Amino acid sequence: MATLVTTITETLRYKGKLGQWSWVLHRVTGLGVVLFLILHVIDTSWAAFYPGQYAKAIGEYQSPLFTLGEFALVAAIIYHAMNGLRIVLFDFKPEWWHLQQKAAMIVLGASVVLLVPTFAIMFGHVLHYYDGNPDLVTISDIIQSQAQFLLGFVVIIAAALLLSLAYALITGETGTPARPNRRPSQFDAWMWRFMRLSGLLIVPLVFGHLAMVHLIQGVFDITTSGHSIVGTDAVNSSGKAVEFVGRRWDYLVAGVAIWRIYDGALLALVVVHGFNGLRYVVNDYAHDRVVRRALTLAIAFGAAALIILGFAALLAGVDETAYGIAKEGLESFSKVPTSPFGG
Ligand code: HEM
Ligand code: HEM
Repeated sequence: MATLVTTITETLRYKGKLGQWSWVLHRVTGLGVVLFLILHVIDTSWAAFYPGQYAKAIGEYQSPLFTLGEFALVAAIIYHAMNGLRIVLFDFKPEWWHLQQKAAMIVLGASVVLLVPTFAIMFGHVLHYYDGNPDLVTISDIIQSQAQFLLGFVVIIAAALLLSLAYALITGETGTPARPNRRPSQFDAWMWRFMRLSGLLIVPLVFGHLAMVHLIQGVFDITTSGHSIVGTDAVNSSGKAVEFVGRRWDYLVAGVAIWRIYDGALLALVVVHGFNGLRYVVNDYAHDRVVRRALTLAIAFGAAALIILGFAALLAGVDETAYGIAKEGLESFSKVPTSPFGG
């Protein structure tokens, strides 16, 4: 904790160096996207396993609070990607290191240049949606449903702390190591390469995904009845989000479910990249053995659980009867016990 406070105060004191700020921004944006990703993969799996709950989740995504969050998410991912590309480039071209300051400025400029038209398109979708006086989910509903995620995080971290403590009691390994091992392990060297390679692969995948489901289609068109479904030749006849997801996952090109494969590749890469990034952050701030082991355990468990859940949803797909049920409206959903949290 003390290290975290020192980092923040030192960063604020250490004025003038753009490189320092781009490091902070890279970290903050990466962590923000990881948080979104956790909620997003869990929500998306509901399309397959709890269609009623998925409809509610999409309703929340279409609320003003989440709309603001989506602008922040898009800004975060654009900056993180641009800066990530700069890091990769300079790692492989160390002779250019004297140009770091200039490159950090170019990253900021390029992010703004990309953001202006992107925000303009997103804003167009927002205006169009609010013109139609839609029914909006209330803030208290949103707080209630998001609190369940918070509870989940707390339970996982508490369980990991207990496990780590039990391990420490058995082995006697507690406290902060006197001389931390500075030599990176083989695993860390491998992950260093993976972060760079995965970053490069994520760029087209995540921007393609965002362009499809966020810009071309627009998050609000996911629930527009009679609207064509991006990347397919189908139409959303029920106007429900589960049909949107189901038809995309069932769309075949030469017998291949291309969007399932696409989403699977995106899932595996972003989860491993994002959670390994989370591990870097934990390694920087948590020096106590028990705490660090607990957080590393929680990260490994979280990454494995998300990958299993995401792939389970991709394999299960959306049952077509769910489109019909969804068409009857959200009220009828609330009558069946569909909540994954037992509600
Ligand atoms: C607000 C912007 C976003 C919207 C509206 C959105 C929407 C969707 C939708 C509708 C699906 C269902 C499958 C499909 O249609 O392809 C999906 C799946 C997925 N999205 Fe997004 N997405 C957004 C941003 C992101 C971002 C930034 C990431 C990565 C960091 C991401 C990663 C994924 C993954 C991995 C899946 C597959 C999940 C699974 O296998 O269960 N999405 N998204
Ligand atoms: C869009 C393409 C992306 C690129 C080019 C990229 C690139 C990078 C690079 C080069 C690093 C530094 C790795 C290191 O220090 O060894 C990094 C760190 C990180 N990335 Fe990404 N990334 C991308 C997408 C994402 C996504 C989608 C997430 C979230 C799911 C994410 C989360 C993180 C986190 C949390 C870190 C650690 C930050 C830190 O140590 O300060 N990145 N990224």
